[in-house]
Amino acid sequence: MGKCIGVLTAGGDSPGLNAAIRAIGKSALSTYGMRVIGFRDGFRGLMENRTVQLEGDILSGILTLGGTILGTSRDKPHKMPVGSKMQDMTEVMMDNYERHHLDALICIGGGGTQKNAYRLSKSGMNIITLPKTIDNDVAQTDITFGFDTALSIATDAIDRLHSTAHSHHRIIVVEIMGHNTGWLGLGAGLASGADVILIPEIPYDINVVAEAIRRRRHRGKNFSIVAVSEGALSKENANKYNELLEKKQKAKKNQDEKKLGKIAELLQQFKSSQTNNTLRLTSMLEELTGLESRLTILGHLQRGGTPTAADRILATRLGTACVDAIAAKKFGCMVAVRGETTQLVPLEKVVGVRKLIPQNHPWVKSALETGTCLGQETK
Ligand code: F6P
Repeated sequence: MGKCIGVLTAGGDSPGLNAAIRAIGKSALSTYGMRVIGFRDGFRGLMENRTVQLEGDILSGILTLGGTILGTSRDKPHKMPVGSKMQDMTEVMMDNYERHHLDALICIGGGGTQKNAYRLSKSGMNIITLPKTIDNDVAQTDITFGFDTALSIATDAIDRLHSTAHSHHRIIVVEIMGHNTGWLGLGAGLASGADVILIPEIPYDINVVAEAIRRRRHRGKNFSIVAVSEGALSKENANKYNELLEKKQKAKKNQDEKKLGKIAELLQQFKSSQTNNTLRLTSMLEELTGLESRLTILGHLQRGGTPTAADRILATRLGTACVDAIAAKKFGCMVAVRGETTQLVPLEKVVGVRKLIPQNHPWVKSALETGTCLGQETK
């Protein structure tokens, strides 16, 4: 009997997911004669045994579709909301894995999903993962699918904001997704010629930003575009944030669950106040420069709609490489992108590490050399 494999999509949706599902389904069926079962809504579907057979028509006409035909959720196997409680549902998932006689389970997701998938692999499932997220922050891979599409959408949006900012002589602050990394913000800012780009990897000084805008004004440019990654922090807030992270490490080391809970709450509060921070930044820039200012939050628009050609190709390559790996009985790893090739990376090397933008990254260098303000004094 041929092999049977399962697939699920977890975490925030990302353009290219359907292209990956299609590639997995088609190559598994036609190249290897495997059966493919999709689990609905991420790990929740694995727990509740909600499935769909991925074959025939279901796999047709989905290459260009945004979202995921399987649905997704941010549920974690070891912390599932069941009734009013959080419960570890790993065993139930294992039962369902066995019920379907799965030879492998493919988990498609970002950093959180890699962690959850690793846990399942340690509990005995044959797991293989694909890196997807618009944030491009998964470790050990050159790129994640979804990033290129989101980058195009954000770039197009900033292009459009330029003409209105110019006409009204305004500052337009535009908040871009990216979680705690600046790949999307820096990429879109560079591609659209934003005047200021603020990213989490480079804590900013608002006075430096205001001065850059005033200098532009003296040169006769009465408008400015400020591209801000949602996780960007002022120097003061970055210090507070890093202190919290240090405390978290300590509490983890001491296995102090109570403290860990409190710190997690504070970190969560920090995250939910990000949009307020961008709003504050917008009004402070108005005050400091005398230019009228407006804030645009691109939000979930960046994740919606049809994937770019680059993302369709990437997701297809990763999908087929993943099935090849299963056929070769390679498990406990992520299919990573290395230039034009793919590579299997053990999951323990992927989890718990966020791919940040290095300070000497070519994008940072090019931004500075083209006179873009990154929120810090330049020498
Ligand atoms: O990880 C993808 C992402 O879009 C981040 O850029 C953003 O911070 C987050 O998801 C938003 O999450 P949600 O869809 O749960 O609001």
